[in-house]
Amino acid sequence: MTAASISTAAYLVAALLFILSLAGLSKHETARQGWTYGVAGMVVALAATIQLTLHESSVRGSTALVLAISLVVGAAIGLWRARVVRMTGMPELIALLHSFVGLAAVLVGWASYIEVERNGEGGFSGTLLSIHHAEVSLGIFIGAVTFTGSIVANLKLSARIKSAPLVLPGKNLLNLGALLAFVVLTVVFVAEPALWPVIAVTAIALLFGWHLVASIGGGDMPVVVSMLNSYSGWAAAASGFLLDNDLLIVVGALVGSSGAYLSYIMCKAMNRSFVSVIAGGFGIEAPAGGGDGGQGEHRETNADETAELLAGASRVVITPGYGMAVAQAQYPVAELTRTLRARGVDVRFGIHPVAGRLPGHMNVLLAEAKVPYDIVLEMDEINDDFATTDVVLVIGANDTVNPAAMDDPGSPIAGMPVLRVWEAANVVVFKRSMASGYAGVQNPLFFRENTAMLFGDAKTRSDEIVASLASLAALSGTRVAPVPA
Ligand code: TAP
Repeated sequence: MTAASISTAAYLVAALLFILSLAGLSKHETARQGWTYGVAGMVVALAATIQLTLHESSVRGSTALVLAISLVVGAAIGLWRARVVRMTGMPELIALLHSFVGLAAVLVGWASYIEVERNGEGGFSGTLLSIHHAEVSLGIFIGAVTFTGSIVANLKLSARIKSAPLVLPGKNLLNLGALLAFVVLTVVFVAEPALWPVIAVTAIALLFGWHLVASIGGGDMPVVVSMLNSYSGWAAAASGFLLDNDLLIVVGALVGSSGAYLSYIMCKAMNRSFVSVIAGGFGIEAPAGGGDGGQGEHRETNADETAELLAGASRVVITPGYGMAVAQAQYPVAELTRTLRARGVDVRFGIHPVAGRLPGHMNVLLAEAKVPYDIVLEMDEINDDFATTDVVLVIGANDTVNPAAMDDPGSPIAGMPVLRVWEAANVVVFKRSMASGYAGVQNPLFFRENTAMLFGDAKTRSDEIVASLASLAALSGTRVAPVPA
């Protein structure tokens, strides 16, 4: 068997493992298995690429050294980041990783251009040379858009720049102009290869990527994250064409199409136009402000009162949000759930599709704390049940339970489906202050008659409620069933 055929066979195995991985990751129950397939696929892909690179290299010793150093340094940084990153920091880390794929695609494009120039058309001729030049331009363009777009997403998600949309005058014309300029420059480059169109495409794409993501507001960031995921896939596929690497093409297409589909699902869940979001907020005007202040008085409660309310309830729904992740409150919340269920209370969770800062954020946290999957329901599955619920605990959620999305057409989150928690008999909101959520809009829920605010860190307050329920049980001499593990 030749080195090339070994790598082709290994690439096929790796591609199948990646497909199995995607299939596994689509369900809670099989997510771990999916992750294992993904890691196995990457090990096979890396081993195959290394053996092929060494085989094709004329200076094997130094190539092996460079590969070994890159592998050790890359793996060390990756392991370190994975160990130290907090769950709340995952979205911005993912955005940063997308930017690396984009940057790699730009560098591959440039290297490929330089190599062909240096080697006198690099063995290409006629139509093949034109196709190669078109690939270079496209690869650099997608890569550069992904690179700067992901950096802006990283800055927005880590709150280092404001999440409100940047609204430059004529922003849609600017985007359209950038796309047209790219097409014209690519045609010029293919017809008359030269350095300046490559520089111009790179510069325009870098600015375009920046502007595209900067123009999208906080509420639509979930879609942007999955859209950049998709772009990074297409950037990898473009590099695959330039490097003549089939695996990169297959994997890039898998990431590109699954990311695009996820963006579509999220747009549907948030009642947003897919085209509008991918076109950098096309047709979205600057938000009208969303009615801050003037909402009336809010009512405060404490952990003991909440425990008493829960002790008398028979149906409870918990709707977690980003604040649960910040507080790492999933463990006491799981403990609270076990305590209430042991007392015979029907406890379920209602998960909004964009709760937290990345798709599935809440599901991951609840699974980590061993909350049974069958009591964790999607928004559409639980929304009609709030009217017959005694108590809703809103734990660190805000935008996802904001009635303004339904009642206020001027709100930046208008039209976004929300968890209708206010229909329940009692709502207790766990948060530290009256501050707004990610989209920056005030929440009328906090001022409703059936809502009580439980201020403080969600973890501390959940712990206190568990303790308070235990003393209530001790006082009344109630024997609670043993808490399942
Ligand atoms: P948010 O609207 O962001 O609200 C989170 C709330 O948690 C805040 O109001 C905050 O209030 C509270 N909080 C923070 N730390 C806390 C702590 N230690 N203890 C108690 N409360 C705490 O969250 P959400 O309802 O989950 O909505 C998600 C938002 O993020 C949406 O606007 C969504 O579009 C956006 N987004 C989502 C994603 C994905 S993919 N899910 C990606 C990017 C953006 P205090 O500061 O007063 O405590």
